[in-house]
Amino acid sequence: MTSVNTAVQLITREEAEKGRSAAGATCSSALAKGPWEYDIAESLAGVPAYGPGASSADVAPAATPRQGQLPEQYKLASDAELDTRIRAAKQKLGDKAVILGHFYQRDEVIQYADFVGDSFQLANAALTKPDAEAIIFCGVHFMAETADILSTPEQAVILPNLAAGCSMADMADTDSVEDCWEQLEELFGTDVDADGRVPVIPVTYMNSSAALKAFCGRNGGIVCTSSNARTVLEWAFERGQRVLFFPDQHLGRNTAKTLGVPLEQMPMWNPRKELGGNDEQALLDSRVILWHGFCSVHKRFNVGQIEKARADFPGINVIVHPECPMEVVDAADSAGSTDFIKKAIAAATTPTDFAIGTEINMVNRLAAENPQHNIFCLDPVICPCSTMYRIHPGYLAWVLEELVEGRVVNRITVDDSVQDHAKIALERMLAAKPK
Ligand code: 13P
Ligand code: SF4
Repeated sequence: MTSVNTAVQLITREEAEKGRSAAGATCSSALAKGPWEYDIAESLAGVPAYGPGASSADVAPAATPRQGQLPEQYKLASDAELDTRIRAAKQKLGDKAVILGHFYQRDEVIQYADFVGDSFQLANAALTKPDAEAIIFCGVHFMAETADILSTPEQAVILPNLAAGCSMADMADTDSVEDCWEQLEELFGTDVDADGRVPVIPVTYMNSSAALKAFCGRNGGIVCTSSNARTVLEWAFERGQRVLFFPDQHLGRNTAKTLGVPLEQMPMWNPRKELGGNDEQALLDSRVILWHGFCSVHKRFNVGQIEKARADFPGINVIVHPECPMEVVDAADSAGSTDFIKKAIAAATTPTDFAIGTEINMVNRLAAENPQHNIFCLDPVICPCSTMYRIHPGYLAWVLEELVEGRVVNRITVDDSVQDHAKIALERMLAAKPK
């Protein structure tokens, strides 16, 4: 199967030859360009943006990291030249460098990865290579931060393109969360109830800044991933009367629903409004307060796509990520993390039709790796995660060749003050066991 990148190139070329726009088959014809074009455009416009792909319409906060100019030689190099240079640099570096690739990363980059996995598996993968002086994280910013927290101080975590953030993580900034916390403390007070539970426990999804993980560590809270969100919520309900869940409203709602929390007890917190846009009673009655955040990739999935898949392939198995809206999760056969999806496909012993609701690069890779099955993405339009898209072999070649010369570029460092508290919240997550 052709990679997503190659498919986009083919579609845009064909459409251009016919004098049409490729918007019907890809979410943006700009996907065919090198991501450095967006680094330049941002520098000129002075405002960061996520670039083409699913989150291109989201507003990037002013503080979102930007990538400086990629040296010209890497922009001009052919795919074959980049391939030769990356392999040569990797060989020279040997065990000194380890390359990690997230499931959503493009195939052109994944081919060089020593480990491929979900965000948490990759953060841990770094621990298995204590001799590696450099960890090159081909994922997004919050993942690199987590790897820096969990790795040794001697190890440098490198993000090949600093503009590879996460639009969902950016939807919860520290100031807004601190402001929300103050308002909640004022409303709920700080007294524990008869069972010794505090009024509210903060829970942050792994897809958040290290500063917010530290906020949770400081305030009796915890981190969760999409694989352990249920266990973490149970942990939180043992210690708190309610939960403040950020940044992903969908993961929070979908998980709390499986624990029997009614929708009326899950008000949404809009950081731009007083009391998050709620009246006091709704907050006092709440069990889970959901932050107004979402993933623009998973927001694209809808029930109509599931109905079509079921009509086209009777008996099809529909699996979606819990970042999808609740109606989509309810209409699917199952929902789970990227690792859950991978394992569910591996467990199918007879040829099966699968419609998957998650990022296109991962779905297409699963299809290529499992030719015995018919696996396709629920969304018929090719639209990758815009921030993962910012990592391109050109940036990988650049950071590796700089390392060969003894220079570390694009290092992601989490401040010691943040690191300690963030680690507490991560360790609570690791210690939380399913009931
Ligand atoms: P994982 O934690 O499953 O790797 O997912 C990360 C992500 O960004 C999902 O959108
Ligand atoms: Fe963030 Fe969504 Fe991309 Fe995951 S898929 S990194 S949540 S924007």
